[in-house]
Amino acid sequence: SRSLRLAVIPGDGIGQEVVAEGLKVLGAALPADVKVEATEYDLGARRYHRTGETLPDSVLEELKGHDAILLGAIGDPSVPSGVLERGLLLKLRFAFDHHINLRPGKLFPGVKSPLAGEPDIDFVVVREGTEGPYVGNGGTLRTGTEHEVATEVSLNTAYGIERVVRDAYRRADSRPRKKLTLVHKNNVLVHAGHLWTRIFQQVGQEFPEVTTDYLHVDAATIFFVTQPERFDVIVTDNLFGDILTDLAAAVTGGIGLAASGNINPSGDFPSMFEPVHGSAPDIAGQGKADPTATVLSVAMLLEHLGFTAEAAKVEAAVAADLAERAGVRSTSQVGDALVARVSG
Ligand code: IPM
Ligand code: MN
Repeated sequence: SRSLRLAVIPGDGIGQEVVAEGLKVLGAALPADVKVEATEYDLGARRYHRTGETLPDSVLEELKGHDAILLGAIGDPSVPSGVLERGLLLKLRFAFDHHINLRPGKLFPGVKSPLAGEPDIDFVVVREGTEGPYVGNGGTLRTGTEHEVATEVSLNTAYGIERVVRDAYRRADSRPRKKLTLVHKNNVLVHAGHLWTRIFQQVGQEFPEVTTDYLHVDAATIFFVTQPERFDVIVTDNLFGDILTDLAAAVTGGIGLAASGNINPSGDFPSMFEPVHGSAPDIAGQGKADPTATVLSVAMLLEHLGFTAEAAKVEAAVAADLAERAGVRSTSQVGDALVARVSG
């Protein structure tokens, strides 16, 4: 029998609840001869308050030995802003070189979009995951004076851009519409913008069948709302991708449905799958959270590990569940319904 070594980081707030449902569906979807060896890691606000640690090196080392990581959500109002984000979530993405942050934007049949006239939305954002303004490059000067200065310098390397751009081209090439849009702000951020644009054009030579276009990020936000069907694959930098994918979630049924994968395609380190939403402390512990985003992230995890048919089965279960939604259900009721569909 085969085994899947899974590291589980439920994290804070609703993270615990949604991850429990994700694991149920994972177990139901896998072939009978595949055993999930799940190791749970207590990381997040509780650990931070107890020990002062966000991600000890020893835990980072242990995590390396897994096939994949499933993460719920990180963050709590009792922890100063940035401590867990930088010290845990971003540390994992950087340490494991998760340079592909994959975020599908798909409006499932039956899901209400705030946009008029049931638009046909099915795109994927390939967000760069290890560079841009997220690297922490910057600082402050003259702190506390009225001449205080803060800089946040965006890092863009040819190596980093090329690998995410090529990954996005490959994905576009494998989809029926074969369309790739670069989103940046190359009329203002000319240094990074021109590098992105040049590499985008260069790598494009390898993919003659892919149609390309370019949008400034501000214009892209308009099209996300007025013409979302124009997008197929989008490639963009870390911060633009962060913002655009929240907007993508908003127009495809809300953050409760948005899945993501932090991917290291080389397999040198485990990839990490997580719902795009946060820990939602306001509804934590009440069984109200929708586990669907986590379940769709589990589908991405399955796909990443080569369980293609199983991934499709999970996505089909979610699609069927969404199409028939009526009334309010608890977190575990949704999970149970999905387990039943996957097993049936
Ligand atoms: C996300 C989150 C994170 C990000 C934060 C919590 C660091 O917003 O996963 O989109 O900005 O990437
Ligand atoms: Mn975000």
